Amino acid sequence: MMLLITRRLPPAVEARAAAEYELRQLNMESAFDPASLLDSVAGVDAILCTPADRFDEAVIRQLPKSVKVIATFSVGTEHIDIAAATAAGIEVRNTPDVLSVATAELALMLMLMAARRAGEGERLLRAGQWRGLTPTFLLGRGVVGRTLGIFGMGRIGRELARLARGLDMTIHYHNRSRLAPELEAGAIYDADENSFLASCDFLSINVPGGAATRHWLDAKRIARMRPGAIVVNTGRGSTINDDALIMALRNGHLAAAGLDVFDGEPNLHPGYLTLENAVLLPHIGSATAETRNGMGFLALDGIAAVLAL
Ligand code: 8YV
Repeated sequence: MMLLITRRLPPAVEARAAAEYELRQLNMESAFDPASLLDSVAGVDAILCTPADRFDEAVIRQLPKSVKVIATFSVGTEHIDIAAATAAGIEVRNTPDVLSVATAELALMLMLMAARRAGEGERLLRAGQWRGLTPTFLLGRGVVGRTLGIFGMGRIGRELARLARGLDMTIHYHNRSRLAPELEAGAIYDADENSFLASCDFLSINVPGGAATRHWLDAKRIARMRPGAIVVNTGRGSTINDDALIMALRNGHLAAAGLDVFDGEPNLHPGYLTLENAVLLPHIGSATAETRNGMGFLALDGIAAVLAL
């Protein structure tokens, strides 16, 4: 069986793939190149891609009939037109669960960094501008005991809630529907978006992205948030209206933001770059060695399961 892999993967994952399949490795870097994919896909049974590779309807329609499965090295699938894949008889597999802890851990780190002004302090120190201790220097906000609002209480959101309970945080969440009590684990369900937004000292965005939540965090919703609140996003950049968030960080309505994902990444709105109260990371939510191995193995399991059918 032949497997096409679009990008370099962790060595242990590549080794297993090489042991199980005849491989075609494109080793794409940065932008997705559909032409080189289509040039190399003849006779391929399975494709292993990443969120940086856009399998829209036009690309999927040009795939040969031999392709039975596209597995993505991600939990997110918004880069794949699943309806087009289904119409072409191609199954799509992703990597849920194995990255929930790592991504929640990063969301918590962003909350702490944004609240305690960690990025600002480190930049200042490295620039040789630390003049010594003064009682009013770099005062941030505490995290312990505050209220965390989680937008999107799926696997990653619930993992974040579990970690945040260790910091004595009160957890609110907003979702399409209320969870069963054992999944809620004491978190308060705000069916009403306005009261949800008004309840948070910290808002963590954990929805997967996609059309339904595109630019959800806009000026109107930010205005409903508490003055001095902090926004963290480890889901998808498209959920935030960047102009609105930048405005609120500039005028001080929001104290800070911690962002690991950006609309149009790896490009980001240049307005963020000059904001001291924005902690900016290059989409490293799942970037631990063990998590990335787990993702790769799960993607290979998904491919094997489809090809065995
Ligand atoms: C990326 C992610 O997959 O799983 C997702 O949806 O966004 C990340 O875990 C990862 O950065 C590697 O492609």
